[in-house]
Order: sequence, then structure tokens, then C-alpha cells
Amino acid sequence: MSISPVNTTTNKLTEAKGYNCWLQYEKITDHRLIESFLPWLSSIHVAGSSVIIDSAVEELQTAVYSMFDSEITYSDSLDASIVLGALNELDVEYFNIDNEEIENINEEGYILKSVTKGQRKTLLAAGKTDKGALYAVYHLLRIIQTGGQINNLNIIEAPKNQLRMVNQWDNIDGTIERGYSGQSIFYQNGEFTGDLQRIKDYARLLSSTGINAISINNVNVWDVETNLITEKYLPEVSKVADIFRAYGIQTFLSINYASPIQLGGLGTADPLDAEVKHFWKTKVEEIYRIVPDFGGFVVKADSENRPGPFSYNRDHADGANVLAEALEPFNGVVVWRCFVYNCRQDWRDRSTDRAKAAYDNFKPLDGKFKDNVILQVKNGPMDFQVREPVSPLFGAMPNTNQVLEFQVAQEYTGQQKDLCYLVPQWKEILDFDTYCKGEGSTVKRIVDGSLYKYKYSGIAAVSNIGDDINWTGNTLAQANLYGYGRLTWNPDLSSQEITNEWILQTFGNDPEVHEVVYRMLMDSWPVYENYNAPLGVGWMINPGHHYGPNVDGYEYSAWGTYHFSDRDGIGVDRTVESGTAYTAQYFSPNFETYNNLETCPDELLLFFHHVPYTHQLKSGKTVIQHIYDTHFKGVDQVRELIERWESIEGKIDEYRYNNIRNRFDLQLTNAREWRDKVNTYFYRKSGISDEHNRTIY
Ligand code: GCU
Repeated sequence: MSISPVNTTTNKLTEAKGYNCWLQYEKITDHRLIESFLPWLSSIHVAGSSVIIDSAVEELQTAVYSMFDSEITYSDSLDASIVLGALNELDVEYFNIDNEEIENINEEGYILKSVTKGQRKTLLAAGKTDKGALYAVYHLLRIIQTGGQINNLNIIEAPKNQLRMVNQWDNIDGTIERGYSGQSIFYQNGEFTGDLQRIKDYARLLSSTGINAISINNVNVWDVETNLITEKYLPEVSKVADIFRAYGIQTFLSINYASPIQLGGLGTADPLDAEVKHFWKTKVEEIYRIVPDFGGFVVKADSENRPGPFSYNRDHADGANVLAEALEPFNGVVVWRCFVYNCRQDWRDRSTDRAKAAYDNFKPLDGKFKDNVILQVKNGPMDFQVREPVSPLFGAMPNTNQVLEFQVAQEYTGQQKDLCYLVPQWKEILDFDTYCKGEGSTVKRIVDGSLYKYKYSGIAAVSNIGDDINWTGNTLAQANLYGYGRLTWNPDLSSQEITNEWILQTFGNDPEVHEVVYRMLMDSWPVYENYNAPLGVGWMINPGHHYGPNVDGYEYSAWGTYHFSDRDGIGVDRTVESGTAYTAQYFSPNFETYNNLETCPDELLLFFHHVPYTHQLKSGKTVIQHIYDTHFKGVDQVRELIERWESIEGKIDEYRYNNIRNRFDLQLTNAREWRDKVNTYFYRKSGISDEHNRTIY
């Protein structure tokens, strides 16, 4: 569907509000605002020509038309009100730019500067390259949509992270692994959908937040998807790549490590085998003939039963390097995932610990990877739980490029039925001090490449979109995608700043709506945590689909996702003295903090320690009373969220109001179920009653 809400029926008009996400470009009716903005937006001078510049101009035109009912005219001279392009294509003397400052920013940076001389107003939106010019336009439109000022702009900005990526977990049959908002926008019934407009609109959304890379198929590469790197599908991949390219986004594919066997007809996929090397070399050459700026491969190998180098007694470095060698001549990279663990664990074996696996598998290989390999490390050692510690692998590999992996899709955090705004969680992770090079060695400084001078680094995340009209199922889940993109651009932005930006662009500037939505988003992660698995222990979910409570759901399977609850206590002993010694993977003082029961923070207590139900937390409560209290509270808080949402009925278009309201019914049912199952389970296990005698079934 088209992004312009003009000429549609009323119904479509309100649906368009869901569809347009934060690129609403809502009509501006306040005369003072119109008078202050419009003189800057009447004509444009464009330097250079490229698909990216075309996108920048088109976005500007669409937005200005939508917000002001006004068309921007083209001008041949610098006399225009907007001057747009790459700096080296422009004569920018007029703008009196501090050259030194510009030189210091990276290739994706830009300048946004407004100059008034007499009656003449000129706005410079110029990038170091065309890409920067596009980002400058998105920045300008963000300023307008959030009610900022253009009069005295002098902004020089560049992204802090180099790779700012989303991973689609889409399959060619149209399903999405862990997708909670419809089917794939890329594929349907074994083919590409061909809905290029939808893909273009996705590119616009991503680019407006700063995303510059996308892998377009599931990390689990099944039989049909293995063929994406063959002539059957590459021309279609190329069409998708064309769209993303116009928005400064590079296209990647997830590959099947067994491709030499499945596609090449070889007897092996051994990375050290000469024929296998040849296979990858010629395969990569073929890909680049069709997609000349192809980004590279994302690889899930030897993980959850996917093929990999282990079958040939090779390690991950051998495995990745054969691909890296093939990609090197084209500046392509290998994004090699570290989600590797033994999923056949015996619960009695107290040295094997899934949490230890990524570090144990990869740390010894530091320095052995080619320099166009990047290791992609999930934020925590387990799997995107509502609460888990930061992966100890961050900072542990000074000589190997790393990217951090988040999950925007809410697999374990409510599946886009329940509201769970993840930006505050991601901020905690990015700001976590690993102490790998002493105090101040935060995760964000590791993954932005500054601490260890990585050649490639950044952040990747599993996307949360599908073909639902509003992209994300729950309209409020759009905030997670927006916030993710903004954090990849600048991890120093605060949750407050990001949230305010998102609300203003998405819902406009009604102060009451703003206040309500703001508080709801900011409270939602703690609310979700309250009725979920307690104190960092995680899991307790229904196996397979992972929605809803099932305290022992994984307790008696081999996946190593245990909470070890018995009649006496709960939690996983990961200490050096009596447990799995996982704590030793952290640098000091994090190691001591976690290893010691006295200093371990409450919210992670059960991740690191097995304690009696009567153990007293720092909060003063016992563990069992904490479980009861948080679970009763969580349900009450969901009711409050609903009341708050209902208080702004009529102030938001019907489509988005109802969409969110309906999701809250599901959330309330879910929260109640969590409360009752968890409370009953632990009441029966422990035999200890609730101090407040509330109903426990
Ligand atoms: C989780 C998720 C899987 C996914 C895997 C991965 O385990 O449940 O669906 O394939 O992560 O990150 O590879």
C-alpha cells in the first residue's frame, strides 16, 4: 500500500496511521509552526545524482507535501532553500563550515545547518557521502515532526556503530520463525512476494532510524532457502537489494553451512577441503556478479542441530575463514553467530552449563579469525530472557571483531501481545561495564569498535515485523523497532529521548496522550518481569512456542534451561565453589559481585545462586514472598496499563486505539495465568503461605 494517506476511505486512513509508524508526516495546522518551517522548505538544490539522493529527495517531497500541502520546487543554483548532496559535490563556502569538524566524522556522517542572510534562508543537508545526505533528511524530518526548530541548526552527526543490522528470520514459505505480526513481507509460498512497495516502505522505516544492513532470510536455513544463493533466486535477491541500496542498506543472506554438499554435489563441507574452498569462491563470485554490493553471509553453524565445521573436526575459525576468504576480494564479511551450545545436557552434570557455552567455544579462538569475520554474540548467555546477565564474551576477545545481537521480536517477552518496551533493557546492556580494560569498558564501547579497534563491529537484532498492516502486531511494538535503530546509531541516547521522539512522531503532540503512552512504555518491562520468571532465573515457559507459563516446561528436557526448583529452594548455582563456575567467565569485579551471594544483585540472584525459599533478598523480603508479591502486583499493573490506555480513548484514531486495547485483553489473561501457575507451583513446592493470604490456587 502507498504511504500517502490521501484519497483513501476513512477506514484505510486510520489503518494508514498504523502502517506509517513514525513516518506519519501528520498535517501541521499551527500557523506559527507553518510560518517557522515552511520558508526553509520551498525549493531544493540537489548536487550529484544517485539512487540514495533520489530517495532523500522523494522522502522530503512526500513529507513536506503531507505536512504542509506544499510542493518543493527544484533549483539549479545554491540559491534554493535546501541544499542537498554529498559534501564533495557541493561548494559549501557560503555555509561557513568548520572543515576540521567535518573531516573528523566518518563516511556516514552529515551536517545539517541553517543559515539566514538577510531575507534569504538556506538549509544545508549534506553528507560526507550520499548516505549521509539521506540521514540528514531523516534528521530534519524528525526535528519537524517532533516540533523542534530549524532556525539555528548546526548539527554534525555520525553513527557510533559501523554495522547497524536487522536479521529477518523469514522462510520462503512465508512463515517467520518467531514472527508475531503476520507473514513475511519478502516471501510467500516458495517465492518472493514481489510486493516491492512494502519492502520499500520497510527500507524507509529502517533507514530513518539509521539501520544500514539487513539479512533477508532465517538463520536456520532449510532446504529451499539453501537455494537463495543459486541462479534460481539470486535475480530476486537482487531486486530486493536494489530497494535497500536506495536507502543505504546493504543486503546479506543467511547460508546453510552444508551448501557445498547440497548445492555443489560434493561429498563434504569440510572447510579445509580444496573443493569446498573452490565451491565457496565461485559461489561468492556468482553472487557478486548479480548483487555487486552484497554485504556477506550470516551463519548459524553447529548450533541447534544445524550443520557446521564440527562434523569435520574443525573449529569455528576454520569454519568462518573459508567463507571470509571467498568474500574478501569483494569487501564482503562473514557474520558468524556464537549461539552455540550443547542441547543434549544431562541435568546431573554440573560442569556443563548452557550459559558457559559461547565463551567456552569462542574465547580460545581469539585472533584466529580472518579480519572480515565478525562474531555475533547474543546480549545474554542464554536466549533473550526477560532478565539475564550480559554475555561474558563481550570484552573477552580483543582480537576478534564482535557485534552484539538483540532480539526486537518479543519471543520471550510477550510475543507482541503483551506490551514490553525493550529500550530500557537494551540501554542497561549497552551501559554494562565489563571491566575488560578496567573501569569504563562498557559493552557499547566494545561493540562500537573503539575499545579494541575492531575492523568491523556494531549491533544486529532479530526484527519484529511481518505483513500485518501495522508491521508489528501490537502497534506499541513499533517503538521497539524504532528504539533499536536509534540505539544502533547512537547508544548514548537515553531511553527518555528515544521514547519522546517516538511518541511525538507516532501519535503527535497531545500532552495527555504523550504522558500516558510514555509512562506505559517505560513501566512495561518491569511489569512484564513481575509476572514472569522471577529474579533472573528465566524460562518457565511453554516449550516450542514460548508463550505463557509452564514452570517445568523445560525442566525435564535436555536443553540446559533449568531452574532446579525443589522442595528446599530454587535457582542455578553458577558459583566457582559449588556450582558450574560460570561466574569465572567475568572480569573482576563482576566475577566477585556475581559469585558472592551477599553482593549478587537481587534481580539476577537466581541466575547465579541456588537458595532456600526463605533466603532474604536485599529488598528485605524472602524469595518466596517476593515471588508472590511480584506476581500479584504484575497483574494489578496490567489492569492499570489498561485503565491508562482507556483514559485516552477518542484521542487516538480508532485503528490504533483498538489494536492496542485488544492486545491488552490478551496480556491480562496471560499475566493472570502466569500469576496463578507460578504462585501455585511455588506454594506447593515450598509449603510456605503468602503473608497476605491472597488467593493461591
Ligand atoms: C532461539 C529461538 C530459535 C532460534 C534461535 C537462534 O533458540 O527459539 O527459534 O533459531 O534462538 O537464535 O538461532
